[in-house]
Amino acid sequence: MKINLTNIKKAKKLLDKRECIAVPTETVYGLAGNAYSDYSCKKIFKLKKRPRNNPLIVHYYDAQNLEKDCEINDNFLKLYKHFCPGPITFVLNLKKNSKISKIVTNKKNSLAVRFPKHPVMKSLLKRINYPLAAPSANLSTKLSAVSSADVKEDFGKKIKYILEGGKSSVGIESTIIDIRDKPKILRLGGLEVTTIQKSLNKKIILDINPSKISSPGQSKLHYSPGIPIRLNKKKVRKNEACLFLKKLKKNKPNYYFLSKNGNLKEATKNLYSTLRKIKKDKFKSIIVEKIPNKGLGKTINDRLNRASKY
Ligand code: TXA
Ligand code: MG
Repeated sequence: MKINLTNIKKAKKLLDKRECIAVPTETVYGLAGNAYSDYSCKKIFKLKKRPRNNPLIVHYYDAQNLEKDCEINDNFLKLYKHFCPGPITFVLNLKKNSKISKIVTNKKNSLAVRFPKHPVMKSLLKRINYPLAAPSANLSTKLSAVSSADVKEDFGKKIKYILEGGKSSVGIESTIIDIRDKPKILRLGGLEVTTIQKSLNKKIILDINPSKISSPGQSKLHYSPGIPIRLNKKKVRKNEACLFLKKLKKNKPNYYFLSKNGNLKEATKNLYSTLRKIKKDKFKSIIVEKIPNKGLGKTINDRLNRASKY
């Protein structure tokens, strides 16, 4: 993607004035503001209609910038070296003298941090002297946005500016791992757990459906396209779209597929945009063919399961 410096300068100017803007990342678009400013962070919560007890992820250019705010450890350094910048978010302990706004963390002493890979976002982060708090740029409980058009659909003129970055290449949120103590996955995402496991050379605990929610991405109804999603069902209803992993030979107007050849990476990238398209095409519900529960298929199934609680 070619970087348009004029756009990045405009984004910086607005952020410096403590405005909130939408920014592209390789996972999904974010609704960003200065993570050191209470004013900016309050605005993010308000725009997104997000409950204040749901903390924000903070985005840094690199680990050097992070060290002012968080305690790092060996597991962090290992994973950072292998996967950053990229679709992984770390939960770390905040340093006592950190400047992160208390609004970001809801006064907790941990912070979720991430190093995005998207060249436009990287270029922006390099030019500003504060990290960016940015939840996914969608209304609370709805599908995340993977293009500037998606962001516009949800927020219209309520957001001052959307920094253009094309379609997000991963297309699903980052994998969240709490590494303050024994590594623990809090949310499945764009980086496969087995890959993380190999890098740490140990088994990692999965804590994605706890009885007490520590990360609201874990909550039931979430990632919803706004119409019912039905899983493990055979009979297609009236006005229902059928979603398949792989393109079929037979085509019908209500057939949608996530990848031409059944490739899970491509399917992940297309998941949210296809669900949005089905809603726009005025179908009343979606029946989904079973997706293999391996690799990124696990992340796809996690999102479909939550969305099916509608
Ligand atoms: O890929 C992503 O992670 C995207 C892009 C924009 O970076 N961001 C994103 O943010 O998905 P959001 O806010 O939609 O999801 C962040 C999740 C929430 O479920 C939140 O509860 C959890 O991270 N979270 C934030 N801080 C946390 C913390 N200190 N401990 C545990 N979970 C935390
Ligand atoms: Mg979100």
